[in-house]
Amino acid sequence: MIPVPWSLLPDNASVGSAGQLLIGGVDTLELAREFGTPLFVYDEDHLRARCREAVEAFGDHAVYASKAFLCKAMARLAHEEGLGLDVATGGELHTCLAAGVPAGRLVFHGNNKSLDELRYALGVGVGRIVVDSFDEFDRLDALAAEAGPAHQAPDVLLRITPGIKAETHEFIATGHDDSKFGFTVSTGAATAAVERARVSRSVNLVGIHAHIGSQVFRVDSFAAAIDVLGRFANPLDLPELVVGGGLGVAYVEGEEAPTITQWSRIIAKAAADAGISARIGIEPGRSIVAAAAVTLYTVGTIKDLPGIRTYVAVDGGMSDNPRPVLYGSGYETFLARSVTGERHRSARVVGKHCESGDLLVRDAKIPADTAVGDVLCTPVTGAYGHSMGSNYNKVTRPPVVFVRNGDARLVVRRETWDDLLATDVG
Ligand SMILES: Cc1ncc(COP(=O)(O)O)c(C=O)c1O
Repeated sequence: MIPVPWSLLPDNASVGSAGQLLIGGVDTLELAREFGTPLFVYDEDHLRARCREAVEAFGDHAVYASKAFLCKAMARLAHEEGLGLDVATGGELHTCLAAGVPAGRLVFHGNNKSLDELRYALGVGVGRIVVDSFDEFDRLDALAAEAGPAHQAPDVLLRITPGIKAETHEFIATGHDDSKFGFTVSTGAATAAVERARVSRSVNLVGIHAHIGSQVFRVDSFAAAIDVLGRFANPLDLPELVVGGGLGVAYVEGEEAPTITQWSRIIAKAAADAGISARIGIEPGRSIVAAAAVTLYTVGTIKDLPGIRTYVAVDGGMSDNPRPVLYGSGYETFLARSVTGERHRSARVVGKHCESGDLLVRDAKIPADTAVGDVLCTPVTGAYGHSMGSNYNKVTRPPVVFVRNGDARLVVRRETWDDLLATDVG
């Protein structure tokens, strides 16, 4: 079995003198020793390069979807590189503000924003609110009444559902009619929402927004959505049209995805073909951060079940990467001590949680000499891993390290067992 495909590793991955994985010139085995495992290691220059690609194409209308991976250092990095940030909850909003991102560079999403979240967003002056429902309009009206004459109508976009079925997992497809997100075009709800926004004194309508789904490889899905969006939005003559994120990334051998630049060109061409004159915005998340990171684990147990399979258990699992359990997502794996090593042994890589479904790599290929104590690496774990993590079984969340030019900096420390008790009051 061949070594792990090099293309799945961060931009600045290299092989050390003993065959071990270096990222940003830093030895991952030393990182595992210094910070412990599980550990998220992000290639900072890779992150910055992907941000620049998005800004290059769409200027300050390129927005990073922070749900993919968010901590203060990431928010700051995206802002420094010229991206706005999309937040989908009060917590994401709070984190970006704590990082020093100006509120005016934030776009507030969410299909069920609470009154408190909206009050917070209005109070700090977020750049855009993406209105998702008529109930949200009611809440914005209530907040405008609460503020009285001091109320400043926020700039809003309307999230519409264009009726496009993107080819991806049903849990991350969002543009088809049967969706909890947005105002549906085919039912007339989207037109009614435009009418309501136009007469409302609580909001200032500046544009239309759609997001068809995540982990989408087929660029014709984006082109089809933009065609529908153009037909809906062109007659409205609004200045902005945001086409969301969703660009897929390769996770395993044999997968290939367009680059951000290629995706941007497809969007720009589809927009021109659809006669769209509004300023186009994008919201990539996964394509900025996924391939920038790897997760390091330590192998703790190897169980050979003759005639059945081999289980390799590591010190993390569904609490640091729920994607395999949620979506059946595939990952590659290899040993950090031997990046280019052949992987001849079949195994299932599982976590330490009290659940049989707790798996990280269903059908893994690992080197034949994999042993307890080895540092196992899963690439392409930078998106929807740390951010979707949990404390299931009271497992502490792993730290995050950014590496660059031979240096490592800890940006999120490991949770402690006392952190787990911080909110218990009884
Ligand atoms: C509204 C919106 N924009 C952008 C994104 C980012 O998607 P991706 O990480 O696939 O680029 C999402 C993801 O769910 C989203 O809901």
